[in-house]
Amino acid sequence: MPALYNLFCQHCQAPGTDLSLPESFAVIGVARREKTDESFRAELRESVERFSPDTFDGETWRQFAPRIRYHRTDFENLDGFKALGKRLADEKLPQNCLFYLAVQPDSIITVIDQLRASGLARPDGGRQPWSRVIIEKPFGRDLASARALNERLRTAFSEKQVFRIDHYLGKETVQNILVLRFANSLFEPLWNHKYLDHVQITMSETIGVETRGHYYEQAGAIRDIVQNHVMQLLSLVAMEPPASLDPDAIRDEKVQLIRSLRPIPADAVAGSVVRGQYAAGEVLGKAVPGYHQEEGVAPDSGTETFVAFRAFVDNWRWAGVPFYIRTGKRMPARVTEISVHFKPVPQVLFNNPPYGPMQPNVLAMRIQPNEGIALQFQVKRPGAATRVQASQLDFSYAEEFGAAAPEAYQRLLLDAALGDATLFTRNDEVEAAWQFVDPIIHACEARPAAGIPGYAAGTWGPSEADALIESDGRRWTVLRRHEHHATEEHGRMGARAHGRA
Ligand code: BG6
Repeated sequence: MPALYNLFCQHCQAPGTDLSLPESFAVIGVARREKTDESFRAELRESVERFSPDTFDGETWRQFAPRIRYHRTDFENLDGFKALGKRLADEKLPQNCLFYLAVQPDSIITVIDQLRASGLARPDGGRQPWSRVIIEKPFGRDLASARALNERLRTAFSEKQVFRIDHYLGKETVQNILVLRFANSLFEPLWNHKYLDHVQITMSETIGVETRGHYYEQAGAIRDIVQNHVMQLLSLVAMEPPASLDPDAIRDEKVQLIRSLRPIPADAVAGSVVRGQYAAGEVLGKAVPGYHQEEGVAPDSGTETFVAFRAFVDNWRWAGVPFYIRTGKRMPARVTEISVHFKPVPQVLFNNPPYGPMQPNVLAMRIQPNEGIALQFQVKRPGAATRVQASQLDFSYAEEFGAAAPEAYQRLLLDAALGDATLFTRNDEVEAAWQFVDPIIHACEARPAAGIPGYAAGTWGPSEADALIESDGRRWTVLRRHEHHATEEHGRMGARAHGRA
């Protein structure tokens, strides 16, 4: 709702432009509980005020509120869906419909069936009035269920009408990955195994599972983050240049990349994948409970809240370049960063004692927070003695563009309303991602729950995750902005820098 409200504000400021909502639109909430239009509006007003305090304004809300309605039905009740269709006609509401399925995963198929049976879904694609559907993640819980869901969707909608949300694609910094790579001549020629040593993706959160213990128990970090957000980041950073900016041209390349990931078969999982689960600890100065103490979590749960793994892309560009990925909840900082690590310079000149060893060049894309890009390189410290130090060129969105970027959902809901699917996941893409993670999940689930390594909340995951990367002579890295010590390295590897003692 904050996203829709902010789109409405945008619409009021610049009505009728390509990038605002259509002149005539309504928002209809459909659910089981008894509510009136009025009580629903009051509820939404409260949340928009709370979650969008910077843009909330009473007068704009008064213009927005009459467009909101509430329709009660059980999902199993076809008549309730038919009544919704009748209501659209009776109240002369717009006939183009964007169905946003923010429902429990096990209700998705029921709702799709009802949309088809009630005639609300019109499988004829582009013709007016159109219907489209937005599906939230998780899209299935493995390859088989994702395929079944795709098949069911096909009975009601054509692929062009289906918008599978991965909110990471709505983030400006994620969209910027392709611009950085393909709108500059500086990086792309170096973007391959000849010049790059490895790539890291860190997606750490300080929050725990919050109120979502029940959902998270069924998911875990691999399903919740890796299958979707991580696969998206990985494909954007590693894909080949698309032939055009057409949605399918971009998605073709992303699928190709995901399919080029070297499978991690069950017997290789132990050597390439580390899982972990947070125990009680302290995050940002506050004592927090362990995963087992969270509401909705089984006391003996073996669900992972952290995962780190090493992946390879088997193609000419990336031959031999490892991608190290880690994601976890209850870590010391909220950071999503992709860092591209260049090969170390030869062990001559400044890369030898007494000057070296030097930190290699790193290009870091700060997806969030402090959105920006940093390039780490070596400089001579002023003075008679030759001392070499790592420093950074730093680009910051906030400094360059001022106001914070719009929320991902704002962009995504608008794109779906406009019919642009570039930032949504295609059926083959989602299946390719499951194909990669399925064997990992199965191998992990086959292990005893009690065997999952713990990590204290507020730390960077279990020591096994450090061992995973350190056994290759590398370290987990997050480039920190404007700090004297440009690079924060995590691990227990003492003074070793990048593979050498
Ligand atoms: C969601 C996951 O998709 O992404 C959550 O289900 C996670 O568990 C969230 O917290 C992270 O999103 P963001 O935008 O805060 O990085």
